Amino acid sequence: MSVVRFDFGGERVLVTGAAGLIGRALVTRFAEAGAEVLAVDRDREGLKVFAGTGRVTTLDADLAEEEAADRVFAEVDRRGGLDVLVNNAALTHYRTPFIDIDAPTWDTIIAANLRSAYLLSVRAVRRWRDAGRGGAIVTMSSPGGSRAHEDQSAYDVTKSGLEALSRAIAVELGGLGIRSNCVAPASVVGDVRPATDIPSGRTTAPEEVADAVLFLASPAAGQLNGHVLRVDGGLHARLRTDPSQEQLR
Ligand SMILES: NC(=O)c1ccc[n+]([C@@H]2O[C@H](COP(=O)([O-])OP(=O)(O)OC[C@H]3O[C@@H](n4cnc5c(N)ncnc54)[C@H](O)[C@@H]3O)[C@@H](O)[C@H]2O)c1
Repeated sequence: MSVVRFDFGGERVLVTGAAGLIGRALVTRFAEAGAEVLAVDRDREGLKVFAGTGRVTTLDADLAEEEAADRVFAEVDRRGGLDVLVNNAALTHYRTPFIDIDAPTWDTIIAANLRSAYLLSVRAVRRWRDAGRGGAIVTMSSPGGSRAHEDQSAYDVTKSGLEALSRAIAVELGGLGIRSNCVAPASVVGDVRPATDIPSGRTTAPEEVADAVLFLASPAAGQLNGHVLRVDGGLHARLRTDPSQEQLR
């Protein structure tokens, strides 16, 4: 696995969806790299995994709510500011055919995945502008940002929307030293296993996604803005996903 060492010493990082599979790896990797991490999730029990972890502060909040964004940024201000925002929270488990999806479900997914990222990103960039300094946002997309999963229409709409949001921030605020990029992971599981439909031949580890996020947040990516970095073992690049089917031409 990774031997790359990033240095985020003294930097303040906000990670949402911190209690989830990728969120836990993000928090751990940033803290190992020296960052002071504010780990936010609506899953209060799940956040207990960080109890006693140095340089990690937890905060439970339902980020679909504007009040929660204000509470998170009150904590950011109390800590003296923010260097990196990672929009990672999402409702990942809904599966409903488009023909059956109802408006409350649609709104719930849009609010948790897309509205939350807007609420936090706009607060971050206003503070960076007012302080006359830059900052980095990394937002978690998905293959669904550019292709369609079956039975995940609302989720895919949020991922397309997050990529558009990330580009808009890059274009409107890049001149202020603000960078905004996406990571689009695929097939991330806790225990990496063989996968014949992925060109690399295996699934992706959460730590590999975290490393891509740290790269995009680091000065090594200083000229990357409005980018979508795929961490998927080549899945998105492949024309066919079912080897039993005839190759499309
Ligand atoms: N695992 C994968 O293969 C994969 C693939 C593509 C994209 N992604 C994306 O990566 C990110 C992390 O995925 P994961 O696999 O760790 O998912 P996960 O379900 O394990 O974690 C998501 C976390 O977000 C939190 N969350 C959801 N709604 C929230 C809200 N309103 N307020 C606060 N917290 C909220 C959940 O409580 C959970 O802890 C997501 O954005 C997901 O769409 C994951």
